[in-house]
Amino acid sequence: MFSYKNLNLDVKNNILYITVNRPDKLNALNFQTLDEFREAMSEAYENDEVKGIIITGAGEKAFVAGADISEFTQINEINSRKFSENGQDTFSLIEKCPKPVIAAVNGFALGGGCELALACHMRVASDNAKLGLPEVTLGILPGYGGTQRLTLLVGKGKAFEIIMTGDMITAEHALQIGLVNYMVPQAELMAKCESILNKIIQRAPVAIAQTVECVNAVYNETKDGYEVEANSFAICTKTDDFKEGTKAFLEKRKPEFKGK
Ligand code: COA
Repeated sequence: MFSYKNLNLDVKNNILYITVNRPDKLNALNFQTLDEFREAMSEAYENDEVKGIIITGAGEKAFVAGADISEFTQINEINSRKFSENGQDTFSLIEKCPKPVIAAVNGFALGGGCELALACHMRVASDNAKLGLPEVTLGILPGYGGTQRLTLLVGKGKAFEIIMTGDMITAEHALQIGLVNYMVPQAELMAKCESILNKIIQRAPVAIAQTVECVNAVYNETKDGYEVEANSFAICTKTDDFKEGTKAFLEKRKPEFKGK
């Protein structure tokens, strides 16, 4: 059994809560925490009880205030590319997760923390949240997928401004530019995320997993998204859930999906 030091994992009502738990360091992502994220995502993929995932930070101040800057002294010419690729690979496990993943952004989401939120399928921010990619203030740039995911989400102009200035933006601003889906008072953050997931959990699981494939294909130049979509559509039509969904509609009742 894997033992977590910096992440808390809890499954309740089919939702896996992954909480980064280093509040005294504003939940900064050190190497160990990234490793733990890989393990947590394998739990998310493999545990059948888990139907949706919420990622958040411990405490009321920070979601994740970035990669752990105290470990930056260990980065050198030899391992720097690996440093970036390791973060990219870890976050890509979140993006590709066949179950819906929401970032509950409960405070500072900076650098690697903002990139972590960007890798989630959706983002809900509390009204005190501040988001940003301040890497250029440290002489680097976002290396955990942030340059790509932010640009795809908010467009080039806004992405250039956020990355080049390194400034933090408010939750309200993030909402305006589509960086977060919703902004709510902090006390309502979890309830909002749960209400989104509880709705998705009632939908056909294979259709949800295939939606992840299709939407991610938009961002993958090596794939023809329309071909992926047609393929995913065909996969869905082979499921019992497709028959059940159609039958339930015609019988004017709620469908009972089995994920098969
Ligand atoms: N890496 C390592 N430690 C971090 C951290 C990070 N990314 N962000 C915060 N911390 C630590 C601080 O060093 C401090 O530790 P200490 O008490 O042992 O000195 C603790 O978390 C609390 O942070 P502090 O800076 O005192 O809080 P604040 O309210 O004054 O400021 C921030 C909050 C978020 C503005 C500030 O912590 C900050 O700028 N953090 C770095 C953000 C960043 O550049 N992230 C991108 C990294 S690529």
